[in-house]
Amino acid sequence: KITPLVPRTRKEIYETLIKGLQRLEYRGYDSAGVAIDGNNNEDKERFIKLVKKRGKVKALEEELYKQDDLDSKTDFETHFGIAHTRWATHGVPSAINSHPQRSDKRNEFVVIHNGIITNYKDLRKFLESKGYEFESETDTETIPKLIKYMYDNRESEDTSFSALVERVIQQLEGAFALVFKSIHYPGEAVATRRGSPLLIGVRSKYKLSTEQVPVLYRTLELLLHLECPISLIGNIENVKNICNSQMKRRDSSTCLHAVGDKAVEFFFASDASAIIEHTNRVIFLEDDDIAAVTDGKLSIHRLKRSASDDPSRAIQTLQMELQQIMKGNFSAFMQKEIFEQPESVVNTMRGRVNFESSTVLLGGLKDHLKEIRRCRRLIIIGCGTSYHAAVATRQVLEELTELPVMVELASDFLDRNTPVFRDDVCFFISQSGETADTLMALRYCKERRALTVGITNTVGSSISRETDCGVHINAGPEIGVASTKAYTSQFVSLVMFGLMMSEDRISLQKRRQEIISGLKSLPEMIKEVLSLDEKIHDLALELYKQRSLLVMGRGYNYATCLEGALKIKEITYMHSEGILAGELKHGPLALIDKQMPVIMVIMKDPCFTKCQNALQQVTARQGRPIILCSKEDTESSKFAYKTIELPHTVDCLQGVLSVIPLQLLSFHLAVLRGYDVDFPRNLAKSVTVE
Ligand code: F6R
Repeated sequence: KITPLVPRTRKEIYETLIKGLQRLEYRGYDSAGVAIDGNNNEDKERFIKLVKKRGKVKALEEELYKQDDLDSKTDFETHFGIAHTRWATHGVPSAINSHPQRSDKRNEFVVIHNGIITNYKDLRKFLESKGYEFESETDTETIPKLIKYMYDNRESEDTSFSALVERVIQQLEGAFALVFKSIHYPGEAVATRRGSPLLIGVRSKYKLSTEQVPVLYRTLELLLHLECPISLIGNIENVKNICNSQMKRRDSSTCLHAVGDKAVEFFFASDASAIIEHTNRVIFLEDDDIAAVTDGKLSIHRLKRSASDDPSRAIQTLQMELQQIMKGNFSAFMQKEIFEQPESVVNTMRGRVNFESSTVLLGGLKDHLKEIRRCRRLIIIGCGTSYHAAVATRQVLEELTELPVMVELASDFLDRNTPVFRDDVCFFISQSGETADTLMALRYCKERRALTVGITNTVGSSISRETDCGVHINAGPEIGVASTKAYTSQFVSLVMFGLMMSEDRISLQKRRQEIISGLKSLPEMIKEVLSLDEKIHDLALELYKQRSLLVMGRGYNYATCLEGALKIKEITYMHSEGILAGELKHGPLALIDKQMPVIMVIMKDPCFTKCQNALQQVTARQGRPIILCSKEDTESSKFAYKTIELPHTVDCLQGVLSVIPLQLLSFHLAVLRGYDVDFPRNLAKSVTVE
């Protein structure tokens, strides 16, 4: 016997959505919103209730309960609500920019979106020419408007919701996970993805015995594979029998999946943490899958079918705890963020670098480009890791912009009352966009009428609001206090700026080409560096009891040494110093002996020979250098106590790769020393005091 559960109440649906959003808040938030079927009004006209709020999910929750008459106790047999918590990429955090975004004032179509639509400007222009009025600054708003356009111009009255979505995503470029809802398709949900994750949680609405549970899910899986909607009512054994006979009758290679019925509930989510308290059974969607729930039945279509596509979608059982899911397979957010770098640098470049035409367009700077080209000098200001990103790119910026470039620590810049003029261009680099020293330096430069440019990871942050223009690095929220993926994305953003500035310099075309090719292969090379993790862990095993660790290098890789040493200091509490190899003989050489571990960054770049000299000086004092070098470098490895070999890229991008082993090393050292990697003592993620 299977006991059915009672239908959902409106309050339960709210709770599910709000709880789900709260579980996702760890990824960053600035606003949130919900769309849910409205209570039927007297005319029985359908409508979608849309509630959006800036700030934490808690604020949305309060608003929701304030507005809704929960006592009406509407019960739903089939129901579908969507909710979203936003980390802004386009447009400041505000209720109007938060999701769901809508097609029109009647909320005919509403959409939630994770990712970035890179051709949204073209789509917006097209839709505006058709009379659509936009209310937000988001890229997402083009999507509900586009689907409404498709709906109003559909060929047949019976065009399905998923067919419309299929047409819409053919027009979209960029990355997305989307869920749609519409008053024209009540109780239906359509979800799709490309490049951004999306999964479907599956939960039985019946209380099942331990033996029945696996049978149910296996049956659903088979049904999905067989494109066989079936009524799952009554004895579960019957269902199994029906399913087995279906299997025999049908060609098991049938390439589509449909399942379900009112016996199961479906949850769409970008991350399992949002739904894990309801079910641990999930189907992971793949790129261009279009999943629709219609009248309680789920079907999954592929946009492009090719022979190599695996048509089946397994229902997987997640074994992880909630906390683990948030961190994926990683033990700390910092580790997760280090491993996210192949994707985060792609997100930084997405829609900006055109590898075919070798052009770079940073939308947030293009209107100021002329002014920047005419300036007296560039001043790049930041703190900590963000400052290091400026140090790392200074040389290539000098080369590509042909302008003097100053890099400044915000606090010191202010202490010196540094002269700033109206024909200066001042860049403010900040992951959080809230660092007090950087913000004060920004205000100082604004008072002196310089053009101000923000490079932040937080749209709507004080720095992004108060600067004249800027670049969002799109690295995704960074939770670990030690900054990792923000550094590499800041690095890439600054290089992109240099490339944009030099577009019309004929003498620089070859160099630009070389750098753009380097950018293209960067994600793959980062993956290769990450594959050294085990080797770096072994190195950490040798080093974790030491008190000090020196990191030495020069030229393009001096910043790597500063940043590596900062990572080591802040999470392992070891003493660590980033030393400019050129300064070795002016003092630091006195530290070198048999005991002192020294990491040397020696890459095949114009400083290679000079680095060899430093290496000789270290080995002559019985130092035992651990060398980060290029794969082909047999010369340095001869003198090394240990080597970590990295793939070789263009000199000015090598620092993106060479910093990663040091990020990994600091992580492993901290774990071995027993410290909390994500929350080092005495430090905060966002330093909002001077
Ligand atoms: C180091 C680190 C800090 C920050 C610094 C500036 O891992 O995270 O050094 O880089 O506090 O912060 P943002 O970039 O938010 O201005």
